[in-house]
Amino acid sequence: MKNHFKYIQSPCYVLEEGKLIKNLELLHKIRKATGIKIILALKGYAMWSTFSLIKQYLDGAAASSLNEALLIYEEMGLKAHTYAPAFLPDEFQKIFSLSSHITFNSITQWKQYEHYFLNSEVKAGLRINPEYSEIKHDIYNPAINGSRLGIIKKHLPEKLPQGISGLHFHVMCEQDSYVFERVLREVEKAFSNYFSQIEWLNLGGGQLITHKDFNTKHLINVLNTFKNKYPWLELIMEPSEAIGWETGFLKATVLDIVENNGILTAILDVSFSAHMPDTLEMPYKPSIRGADSNNLYPYKYRMGGVTCLAGDYIGDYTFPEPLQIGDEIIFEDMIHYTMVKTTFFNGVKHPSIGIIKNDGTFQLIRKFNYLDYKNKLS
Ligand SMILES: Cc1ncc(COP(=O)(O)O)c(C=O)c1O
Repeated sequence: MKNHFKYIQSPCYVLEEGKLIKNLELLHKIRKATGIKIILALKGYAMWSTFSLIKQYLDGAAASSLNEALLIYEEMGLKAHTYAPAFLPDEFQKIFSLSSHITFNSITQWKQYEHYFLNSEVKAGLRINPEYSEIKHDIYNPAINGSRLGIIKKHLPEKLPQGISGLHFHVMCEQDSYVFERVLREVEKAFSNYFSQIEWLNLGGGQLITHKDFNTKHLINVLNTFKNKYPWLELIMEPSEAIGWETGFLKATVLDIVENNGILTAILDVSFSAHMPDTLEMPYKPSIRGADSNNLYPYKYRMGGVTCLAGDYIGDYTFPEPLQIGDEIIFEDMIHYTMVKTTFFNGVKHPSIGIIKNDGTFQLIRKFNYLDYKNKLS
């Protein structure tokens, strides 16, 4: 394998700025064509060194905790659209001061905090659970039977509590405009009797708008049709993955190659468990640049993580040439739901974070050291 990124230290998450801008331009186009608000949900992408860039294209950001709301305020200079399954009493005052919209997961939560909203500009909403979703993996499905996320129709009073000005739903994951259309239809069927009582509707995330097969024209049509029907509603979409989708990679390096009963494992300086957790959680097999996920090439290897977890590996992959110690391995599409979910499990070295700028130069943004590990413990 050729080491194309020799000038980048290993391991390192590398954002390719030009690809991020391409995604942002598409989202900006949809905002312009529909008049809806599109905000970045921090849960999947919180690379704050790019927030000033993102702010040029989107309407703001969504938080699901005090830390995320603080980051939005500090690095975007904006108040957040905040939702959490429950708010911590000792954090709520601060969250309130950092938010433009706050969505509650239950009527009980709303009752606990409604007094904050008297004579205030901050908008309050309720998360509804449409009990409809086409997500195949239960772990990512907020609409499974018994879900704790959102209020189901039979629990919502016919007249919304005074002070509630919006509704919010989120029941999609990596899906297209046709799923979105069906979800919207179900929400409309079950909840349109509330639309005359609200001013804003948050459509959640999970629309993979920047995927190459996503039909943006269709999405624009669906949104405009809905908007024409309910012109008083401010519509908000809060994707995360669509912002970071295919905007960069994780550079790793082969440290050793071991063999056991014919299985060759390349031991890397990264971990699936600590640095690419979705690969084990979903699970899915990430693409490696220059390698094949099946049997296209003659040299077959399993990719092994550097932690002691027995299951910290993914394979097999085939390569056109035998791997050597020191070869770089480029895991594609490793910007979203990676940096926000990493751990210091086993104390293993945390990948650095860098950007290949639009002009081709590489900028190292952040390196991690022993104190980052130690300060997380006590
Ligand atoms: C409430 C809410 N909004 C937005 C998102 C972002 O979803 P995605 O990254 O799939 O676009 C999530 C993801 O879990 C979510 O729970």
